[in-house]
Parts: sequence; structure tokens; C-alpha cells
Amino acid sequence: MDKKILDSLLIDTGQDRVDHTLRVVEESKKLAYVHSVDIDKATQAAFLHDCAKFKDGKNLLKMAVDFDIILSDIMRASLDLIHAPLGAKIAEHKYNIKDSDILNAIKYHTTGRKDMTKLEKIIYIADYIEPYRKFHGVKEVRQLAYVDLDKSLLLAMNQTIIFLIEKNRLISPDTIEARNQFINN
Ligand SMILES: [Fe+2]
Ligand SMILES: [Fe+2]
Repeated sequence: MDKKILDSLLIDTGQDRVDHTLRVVEESKKLAYVHSVDIDKATQAAFLHDCAKFKDGKNLLKMAVDFDIILSDIMRASLDLIHAPLGAKIAEHKYNIKDSDILNAIKYHTTGRKDMTKLEKIIYIADYIEPYRKFHGVKEVRQLAYVDLDKSLLLAMNQTIIFLIEKNRLISPDTIEARNQFINN
């Protein structure tokens, strides 16, 4: 990724988000290496995964509609979820990413989904375990991520679902479907 993209991310998402993004890039590169995934693709996806986390509270709903993103009831109720599919659109149209695997890794980095590719798994889990993540249970997921990617995703998703239930928040069916598939495998 060149400096122009980094500068643009800085303007759109702010210094803290860029710092997080750079940590996710480093984590993604290491995971890609260990799990034999294209490191360049992992780098590009990680760089852009939060490109729609705007620091100045843009109207995500309006932007999503402008990009013809079909919003589920859950996205309307949990606006933060929109940054993932919106980020994929911005990666495609502003940053000229055409690779569908990279775009899907951005699109599903928050919820996961059924039949995730290895690249999608790596971006999901790198975002979850980057070194500044300190929440309960992250250590176990971090250790598993380098040994058994699917087991680490299952644990991360279980923890996410428990967290959402405790907060009485909606759970994306994509997360449930992904989690069920990891249980069955
Ligand atoms: Fe995100
Ligand atoms: Fe992130």
C-alpha cells in the first residue's frame, strides 16, 4: 500500500483507526505466512478493512443506500455493522480493488459468514486478536489462530455471540451460520 492510501485513510478514519489498521496489517501478514495465504492480498484487505469507519460520523445509512447496499434489519439496528459492506464498496470504487476475495474479506470482517475463504478468516481473526485487544478470552483465540484457524474462529464467534447476548443485542445470521459450520467441521 502506498503512502497516498495511508494519507487518505488518515483523513477519513483518524490516527487511532490507522494505528489499529497497521496492527491488523502486521497480524494479517503473519497469519497469511503461517497459513499459506497470499501475503499481498492479506495486506491489501487488512489495510482497507476499516476504511469506512469514518471519524466524523458520516451518514453511513445514506452512503450504503447510495452504493445500493441491501441493508438487513440487523444493520439498520446496529449501524456499526454497515462499515464492513460499505468498506468493501469504498475499497472497490475509491481504492480500485477488483479482487473479489479481498473485497469479501472486507465485507465480512465483522460478522463472518458461511463458507469463509482462508483470506476472509485471516482478516476476521487478525482484527479480533491484534495486540491492543485486551478483552477476556482474547489470549486463547490468539494462541489458536496460529495453530488452527477454524478453531480460533469458532472460539472468537462463541465469545462474540455470548457478548451480544449479555448486551441484549442482535446477532447477525451470518455469524450464526459461520459458527454452526465450524461446529460441524
Ligand atoms: Fe471493522
Ligand atoms: Fe478493525
